[in-house]
Amino acid sequence: MKDRLFVFDTTLRDGEQVPGCQLNKVEKIQVARGLEALGVDVIEAGFPVSSPGDFESVIEISKAVTWPTICALTRAVKGDIDVAVESLKFAKRKRIHTGIGTSPTHIKYKFNSNQDEIIERAVAAVKYARRFVDEVEFYAEDAGRTDNAYLAKVVQAVIAAGASVINIPDTTGYCLPSQYGDKIRFLMEHVENMDQAILSTHCHNDLGMATANTMAGVQNGARQVECTINGIGERAGNTALEEIAMICKSHESIAVETNINTRKIYPISRMVSSLMNMPVQANKAIVGRNAFSHSSGIHQDGVLKNIQTYEIINPEDVGIAENHILLTARSGRAALKHRLEMNDIHLKQPELDKVYEEFLVLADKKKSITDDDIMILAGKDLNRKQRIKLDFLQVTSGVGVKPVACLGLLIAGEKFEAAASGNGPIDAAISALKKIVCREMELKEFTIQSIDQGSNDMGKVHMQVEYEKKVYYGFGANTDIVGASVEAYLDCINKFKIN
Ligand code: KIV
Ligand code: ZN
Repeated sequence: MKDRLFVFDTTLRDGEQVPGCQLNKVEKIQVARGLEALGVDVIEAGFPVSSPGDFESVIEISKAVTWPTICALTRAVKGDIDVAVESLKFAKRKRIHTGIGTSPTHIKYKFNSNQDEIIERAVAAVKYARRFVDEVEFYAEDAGRTDNAYLAKVVQAVIAAGASVINIPDTTGYCLPSQYGDKIRFLMEHVENMDQAILSTHCHNDLGMATANTMAGVQNGARQVECTINGIGERAGNTALEEIAMICKSHESIAVETNINTRKIYPISRMVSSLMNMPVQANKAIVGRNAFSHSSGIHQDGVLKNIQTYEIINPEDVGIAENHILLTARSGRAALKHRLEMNDIHLKQPELDKVYEEFLVLADKKKSITDDDIMILAGKDLNRKQRIKLDFLQVTSGVGVKPVACLGLLIAGEKFEAAASGNGPIDAAISALKKIVCREMELKEFTIQSIDQGSNDMGKVHMQVEYEKKVYYGFGANTDIVGASVEAYLDCINKFKIN
């Protein structure tokens, strides 16, 4: 019989604290619903006293989701707890997460206090929170650098005061897995009332050990893990939820089970990455673009013969439809044929030979070839649904000259041309586009990312354009970033609902 491991997601609190990752209310609700579908047990929805926005978000998330417990963070301060209680009023299941720093550094420099006084404040906060909610989680901030004997005293006192979950954060990401595991074991063995609460891990990734530390905690008795989607979070981030879920699923010997529906992992990873404008590194475990890609000829050959030669996880188990054979200049005809067939393109040998020749020419210019590339090579018209298409784009720009763009569009088959200047090449190109498509529209969001590394790679552009009070999302990808930007803008326009 496996033990239940509870998953506490803090993407919307510790994750959202990262500069540039802030979400609006609607986006937070979208993520919260995704987390509910994923099967997390607890959603930490915010730190309500920190801002009116956080307070509102906890209220709205509480209304939007049903099954997970909604948790609000506080300091060990009455006023914080009062605000958290108010923000949780619509939650079907609620938890207050209160706590205080326990390491010598925190006690001396943050609180100018002493160990006994910290225990008093911790106990008072837990008792106060318990007046309002049944579930109180206590965090001992910087527990990673707190002496184990003192930590055990704190934990015993807050359990006696009514806390049922005790969070042991490695706030600075300092611990080694063996140290963190020993800490959890020490508490399991030395806290007299440990049977009345569960221990939770909360590991940061400053030294790249968050997942290893979390698993060491689980293997030594912790039964709740705190993590974020894609491992986002303060500095180097938190423990990645997807990694913990797949480790527990893949290793029977750990003997714990979570409620995570692993097939929802990839979709929520994409959602969080795009809403938070936080690209996932290509080689990120489980959800990185290359996580299931095999680029060397030997690996490709092995995988085509039997997938288990080089894969320990079935990509479908994490919600990725098929594994990805990475096409590069070293790939053979078999790999190309396989990839074409995955895209429903079945070529006879002479056609395949021709496409393969063109493929090698392109692969010499680009590090890896995408599905879109090979579909173009095989003659598929990717633009067929677009009413407005880019015909040509010419841009002059540089240092000390005024950027000018000349652009041609095909609108329902008819050609239109315009030229404009701007404060940069993209501004000039968009201004030229707007001279042809004369509508009241406003660019709301604009991000450019490179797909791989290197100056010969594709630029990916995400845009949001507002038109008649509705916001439309568009995407473009091109080795020319001005071209990608125009494509993204046109993608938005092609989605406009014209009355
Ligand atoms: O890292 C940390 O210590 C925290 C606590 C506030 C739980 O995020
Ligand atoms: Zn944290």
